[in-house]
Amino acid sequence: SIYLIGIVILAYLFGSIPSAVWFGGAFYGVDVREYGSGNAGATNTFRVLGKKAGSIVMFVDIFKGWTATNLPYLLDTAVVGIPTSVQFVNFQLALGVIAVLGHLFPIFAGFRGGKGVATLFGMVIAIHPEAALCCVTVFLLTLLITHYVSLSSILAGFTFPFSVAFIFHTSVPAVLLYGIAICALILVTHQKNIERLLKGHESKIYLFKKKKM
Ligand code: G3P
Repeated sequence: SIYLIGIVILAYLFGSIPSAVWFGGAFYGVDVREYGSGNAGATNTFRVLGKKAGSIVMFVDIFKGWTATNLPYLLDTAVVGIPTSVQFVNFQLALGVIAVLGHLFPIFAGFRGGKGVATLFGMVIAIHPEAALCCVTVFLLTLLITHYVSLSSILAGFTFPFSVAFIFHTSVPAVLLYGIAICALILVTHQKNIERLLKGHESKIYLFKKKKM
């Protein structure tokens, strides 16, 4: 129906909000895509513009994924008319992925966006908060140990299907299928990072500045 098409377009537009590009442009006069990894994401904003800017971009990007995934709830479910709960989760997952595609190819920033990790995380929070907690734990542990955000993102991505399958024993096949698709997507968007990791050239991120002696 026209409502379904509308909601899908809305999810894409939400995902398309290029928070890194707009925030850096508005407050620092900088397009973060011209520096660092060239990525329009929270990590590169952190790298180029610092902790405060990076945190705000991360928050907005997570929020985009969460909002898009919950659009059928936030709008009127009755109007959209999704019949069963399993189908409903399917629809939510699809909306989340559409938002991530918006983040990757934003209509508001020349279709040059980010890698979708924060937006995917927002979607995972909306779909399965307990699994999201597992993902964030793996992410933070990997980051604190290795200081590679990309590696942390990849391992956190894999944590989603693994945790829903083996810890939470999901009864919704779509959650698992989307989880596997998410892993594939993260590997695709992180190809350059993987190359750099293998060569030992990947840049490191320190959440806490090392104390000067
Ligand atoms: O969320 C993206 C992150 O995993 C890598 O970002 O800027 O280091 O390529 P970046």
